[in-house]
Amino acid sequence: MYSIDHHDHGTPAVEGAAQVTLEIDGASVTVPEGTSIMRAAALAGGAIPKLCATDTLKAFGSCRLCLVEIDGRKGYPASCTTTVAPGMKVRTESPTLTKLRRNVVELYVSDHPLDCVSCPANGHCELQDVAERLQVTETRFGLAGANHAHAEHDVSNPYFAFDPSLCIVCSRCVRACDETQGTLALTVEGRGFDSKISASAHASFLDSECVSCGACVEACPTAALIEKPIIAMGQPTRAVTTTCAYCGVGCSFKVEVKGDQVVRMAPNRDGHANQGHACVKGRFAFGYTTHPDRVLKPMIRARISDAWREVSWDEAINHAASEFKRIQAKYGRDSVGGITSSRCTNEETFLVQKLVRAGFGNNNVDTCARVCHSPTGYGLKNTLGESAGTQAFTSVMKADVIMIIGANPTEGHPVFASQLKRRLRQGAKLIVADPRAIALVRTPHIEADFHLQLKPGTNVALINSIAHVVVTENLTKEDYIAARCEPAPYQKWRHFIAEPKNSPEAMEAVTGVPADLVRRAARLYAKAGNAAIYYGLGVTEHSQGSTMVMGIANLAMATGNLGREGVGVNPLRGQNNVQGSCDMGSFPHEFSGYRHVSDDATRNAFEKVWGVKLQVEPGLRIPNMFEAALDGSFKGMYIQGEDLAQSDPNTGHVEAALGSLECVVLQDLFLNETARFAHVFLPGSSFLEKDGTFTNAERRISRVRKVLEPPAGLADWEITVRLSNALGYPMNYRHPAEIMAEIAALTPTFTGVTFDKIDRLGSIQWPCNDKAPEGTPTMHVGEFVRGKGRFFTTEYVPTRERTTSRFPLILTTGRVLTQYNVGAQTRRTPNVKWHDEDLLEIHPHDAEVRGIAEGDWVGVASRAGETVLRANVTERVQPGVVYTTFHFPESGANVVTTEISDWATNCPEYKVTAVELVKVNQPKDWQERRRKLGERRWKSRTGSGVSHV
Ligand code: SF4
Ligand code: SF4
Ligand code: SF4
Ligand code: FES
Repeated sequence: MYSIDHHDHGTPAVEGAAQVTLEIDGASVTVPEGTSIMRAAALAGGAIPKLCATDTLKAFGSCRLCLVEIDGRKGYPASCTTTVAPGMKVRTESPTLTKLRRNVVELYVSDHPLDCVSCPANGHCELQDVAERLQVTETRFGLAGANHAHAEHDVSNPYFAFDPSLCIVCSRCVRACDETQGTLALTVEGRGFDSKISASAHASFLDSECVSCGACVEACPTAALIEKPIIAMGQPTRAVTTTCAYCGVGCSFKVEVKGDQVVRMAPNRDGHANQGHACVKGRFAFGYTTHPDRVLKPMIRARISDAWREVSWDEAINHAASEFKRIQAKYGRDSVGGITSSRCTNEETFLVQKLVRAGFGNNNVDTCARVCHSPTGYGLKNTLGESAGTQAFTSVMKADVIMIIGANPTEGHPVFASQLKRRLRQGAKLIVADPRAIALVRTPHIEADFHLQLKPGTNVALINSIAHVVVTENLTKEDYIAARCEPAPYQKWRHFIAEPKNSPEAMEAVTGVPADLVRRAARLYAKAGNAAIYYGLGVTEHSQGSTMVMGIANLAMATGNLGREGVGVNPLRGQNNVQGSCDMGSFPHEFSGYRHVSDDATRNAFEKVWGVKLQVEPGLRIPNMFEAALDGSFKGMYIQGEDLAQSDPNTGHVEAALGSLECVVLQDLFLNETARFAHVFLPGSSFLEKDGTFTNAERRISRVRKVLEPPAGLADWEITVRLSNALGYPMNYRHPAEIMAEIAALTPTFTGVTFDKIDRLGSIQWPCNDKAPEGTPTMHVGEFVRGKGRFFTTEYVPTRERTTSRFPLILTTGRVLTQYNVGAQTRRTPNVKWHDEDLLEIHPHDAEVRGIAEGDWVGVASRAGETVLRANVTERVQPGVVYTTFHFPESGANVVTTEISDWATNCPEYKVTAVELVKVNQPKDWQERRRKLGERRWKSRTGSGVSHV
């Protein structure tokens, strides 16, 4: 169903070709060669009637409604499948064309209910539009013949319904699933009158391969496929363009609203990151914003064992401020700190770090990005000069070879994965380096050329062995290196990497990857015209996370794969604003724009604008805060939108540290796990309830626009402003645009960014400044940001986390498509229909020797702790490796993860934990207690509105 205010050009745009001038209805029109007549007419302001065509899909030519007359040509060609030619003379309207079109529409109408007024798509149906335009009010073919009026509806999907009686078999849904999403879940079965749309050979949508992306629903011209909220609530009346608050792809949406209720999230066809596509989370899973679990009143309590007491905003904020002041007076300036959120906007993040540096007067600020992509910042900054991905997502369409390392795009970054799959279907080659057989390794439609199934924790050994092949087989791009990289570090690296210890043969015993496979994959990467690397947390969340990022950058520099489209080093960022939270100065050692706090010029600039003296030394990172808490020198924390108790490793240690604090101020939507340790709860605002910006994995800054008022009364940035004022450090912003103006004034990569400019351009990729006033889609063009690229030697050092006879298996972690991170949002949506429990994947061999069968409860013990998960016996994992997700608090994946972290950044080593498994009869006692506690907590929220735990 088409979105509010969308103008459909019928067929996709054609790029970069020569121009062709033709005549349409007497008017001269110039369009790129290869453009359809339909699109040319639409660009000239006309609209040829159509049903099977839409500008997001290739022309198909099945409905025969878009016929035109062309001088010198016989018959009536379909304008969607006929391309323009120089001097062509086209007529889009004539009595004959009208007659032919009316025939077509009458045929459709003869097998279509005629109760448009009561149809949920009334006013938004393309069949209704063309029928009205052609004045077809009845059909000569009669309504009494065979029809599909009583065909069974499919309402299995929680978000959309399929009514075959409204289907005109235009196949737009089938093509959307193929071309846009790349899942190929739908087919047209049968012929003629018997043709019908079928999901995965007669399955219901829910039971089929469908991943509920909604592309088919978006493409459907009638109400055959339609969102359930539209059936329930009717058509929306206004739309606001904003940015998804789930993952780092940063899809743009039009939030369609009726009254004060969101009816649907329509993917924005003009969205630069997603071009009209979406995934099940952003598209449908927004119900958490109105979930009864949301806390809508500020609350305080003296001790964490006390019941919460609802209070006014003033009382909560004054209490928090007086507690922080009391703690600082008693324990010193450095005894408090703050945590920024990668879920919140850039402006909100900037304010929290400002509050810590200027209001608390120390640098004790850190962010949840610490636990995911901090090694990316460190590794890329040192090698290339900038702590961010190098490309726009669209760059992948020019890649010839794509290497995916430690990432699972179809689950974690699905809209980017759809684009990637499109490129793979066009013939690009794929190398997957992952301990697990992720979906991209083999599907009915895509097969990786190489799956380098390494053992968890051996990334650096693998990248070194790939680079060894490149160097020793003379596959390096010496001209490129000579022109763009520092010579001495390159020679040093070259010498190091060529050492026999780094050869695939020598490393085979370490990585478990056959040397021959590594050699062939290395040659494929090095010899590609354009080779691009995409990586995820499987690279960063290791004790050598930063080393691996540098190893990846080394390989890209050595093969000349940086500085143009189709290549690059691309971290797939996890959370919606993890890039932004890092950019905004959330780390204890850096101001916004990654400038060290000890740099006098930078600090002076901030001191001048902020009117206070700032600390010269870096502050505490999250793990250091926990250590200091346990030592008794750190006593208070302001946490904006992060669940440290669930998301940080070694839960027992984290809980002990949080439990020792005298004041935890938590600002969030829900009473999360960390709330158990909080003394002040400040109800946060969802992405629908505030203005600001998010920055996605491409460095793309996009607007977040307020759709509804925050139900608790304040947006997150307003809460920080009030807390800062109560602390005695004045903040006087009236709108987030003013915060962005301050960010731009203090951050060289943001100098040219304003809300007005983002509104005008749609989005901006930083750096955006005098040199690049409209932003920078591709980094390091011509030269690296640091000038010359710098190679680093990357010695492989095995993690301290070793398998032993006591803990013989390696546990590694990841995500599923339908849940998100710690699940706080997605667990409160119908997405639980697909995934309502974290499972433990175990190889059949490991399961058999332990007597474990599918569905059994399995005790997972590491040296940090124990948990119990249900078994999923599968060959997706290799022998010796087990895998789980961490979306549900009662799974306790982080109860077993250890305190080992990246040597440079303290990013936890989530991906490698030595464990042993034993079949058990039930979950652990603590899990049962946690489940009951959770139930009681939510129940008390929905009942009296006051939590008692
Ligand atoms: S369900 Fe919609 S898009 Fe699919 S064939 Fe039917 S009318 Fe066309
Ligand atoms: S929702 Fe997406 S995956 Fe499912 S059938 Fe439609 S297009 Fe295919
Ligand atoms: S791919 Fe990411 S940003 Fe896009 S809709 Fe899905 S969760 Fe949102
Ligand atoms: S729109 Fe051209 S044939 Fe259907």
